[in-house]
Amino acid sequence: MVHISEREAQLPDAVIGKLLKIAVEDKDVLSLGVGEPDFITPKPILDYASRVIKKSTHYAPIQGIKELREAISKKLRRENGINADPDNIIVTVGSQEAMFSSLMCSLDPGEEVIVPNPSYLAYTPAIELLNAVPVYVKLEEKDDFEINPERIKEAVNKQKTKAIIINTPANPTGNVLQRKVLEEIADIAVENDIYIFSDEAYEKLVYDKKHVSIGSLNGMEDYIVTIQSFSKSYAMCGFRIGYLHAPENLAKAVTKSLHYVTLTSGTLSQHLALKALSINKSYIEKMRKEYNRRRLYIVKRLNEIGLTTRMPGGAFYAFANIKHLNMKSFDFSSKLLKEAKVAVMPGSEFGNFGEGYIRCSYATDIKKIEKAMDRMEKFVKKLK
Ligand SMILES: Cc1ncc(COP(=O)(O)O)c(C=O)c1O
Repeated sequence: MVHISEREAQLPDAVIGKLLKIAVEDKDVLSLGVGEPDFITPKPILDYASRVIKKSTHYAPIQGIKELREAISKKLRRENGINADPDNIIVTVGSQEAMFSSLMCSLDPGEEVIVPNPSYLAYTPAIELLNAVPVYVKLEEKDDFEINPERIKEAVNKQKTKAIIINTPANPTGNVLQRKVLEEIADIAVENDIYIFSDEAYEKLVYDKKHVSIGSLNGMEDYIVTIQSFSKSYAMCGFRIGYLHAPENLAKAVTKSLHYVTLTSGTLSQHLALKALSINKSYIEKMRKEYNRRRLYIVKRLNEIGLTTRMPGGAFYAFANIKHLNMKSFDFSSKLLKEAKVAVMPGSEFGNFGEGYIRCSYATDIKKIEKAMDRMEKFVKKLK
């Protein structure tokens, strides 16, 4: 057999894949594992598909359809306060591709990227696939998993640091970064001449605080790559559509490289994304309100069960502390799945500082969450 590359072989096997498989195959499993809205895409967007399908059979331009980039630019200006130029926007195959392709065009081998830990599980493998090096800053429960800018300062290596990744609202912790923290991180980037990749996939899912885009801060045009998505805000995961707004030189580099990678995201998805930007806000608000109801419920239940859980400010995850049970988060999750048929994600999947926690997604029906909490309560009682 011909061998696959060493680099590829060393990629971790994502637990999420195995979990999803079990959760799908075993109908009795209640899954709080997945990071995908349970809602379907709002009807006006779906209905629009039949109107545009015939004009979607050709490649779109590499950077994305012009009208869509213009609409995104208006949205970024109006909602995020970012002085966005449509020429510096690139429509991508989900926001994951936006992150990967912009990292690919900015990192040389051996350069360092500062990554919060715990954080979304795709960052480290992406950096390592590019032969660059992740350098972690620890997030702590006592700080509501907010980034401590002092830790970032300590992590900067004048010769090697090329970028900082931030994610607000955050997966898996639900933390929403405050403006003051963003300002301090922005100052560090300017002082050291490094990029900030701001993953804002959950920007619309905030409950108590306002979402602030770091790209809206004064004088940051040359440093910030803003990455957003239609997946979570509009329940459009399956359409694989997201985008980035980058400094001009990086936007040009990404456009050039996409000729050799994906070419472009799907033309139908781009038309639907354009439609999404024009639908009534009440569609999003309805989903947000329902997530909020679930958030308050699940956090209350987890705390009652004895798994201390901070109130997440955004996204759709509760990050529960299981340290007192003296079990690895992977072992806890496997046992919970096997014995109580509830799927959660072990915190260790999100970095070594995620050990001692489990991530429970509330992007699932409240009735299922109630049942899952009942099962988990019994399970934890037996463990004690
Ligand atoms: C923080 C974060 N960023 C990006 C993504 C990828 O989303 P997309 O569907 O836009 O590629 C996810 C998916 O779960 C995520 O949690």
